[in-house]
Amino acid sequence: MEKYRLSVNGNTQEVSAPEDMPLLWVIRDLLSLKGTKFGCGQALCGACTVHVDGVATRSCSLPVSAVGDRKITTIEGLSADGNHPLQKAWQKHVVPQCGYCQTGQLMNAAALLKENPNPSETEIEEAMAGNLCRCGTYNRIKDAIRTASKS
Ligand code: FES
Ligand code: FES
Repeated sequence: MEKYRLSVNGNTQEVSAPEDMPLLWVIRDLLSLKGTKFGCGQALCGACTVHVDGVATRSCSLPVSAVGDRKITTIEGLSADGNHPLQKAWQKHVVPQCGYCQTGQLMNAAALLKENPNPSETEIEEAMAGNLCRCGTYNRIKDAIRTASKS
């Protein structure tokens, strides 16, 4: 076990974990932030996406020992009270079905809009292509991103 000081959603958190523990485990099991989901565990589905220094990152495949002093943001830290433009657009377009993939979708979309506030349809499709949704909410996700990009 090693001790790590992590910056998570603006707070410093101390955890003891094996160096190869995935950040996703730390977030969910040690810090009890359950919004970030486990899907494949192999960087293939996007369900576990968080921001690391603002970059969309698959937390299932990032060992805690590799995080360092970079700032982690989870869905719980995306906005103060669910008022991020994307969260409002998600509600407006009633995007989720089962909801399981939606944290990863939102975090990936938020990273996209930060880098490119007015993405084209193609840019949205390319940026979101790696986030899978078994319920097929892809069209509503695209509509919501377009709405948020105009707000
Ligand atoms: S759980 Fe991390 S990409 Fe699927
Ligand atoms: S809403 Fe069910 S997997 Fe995406």
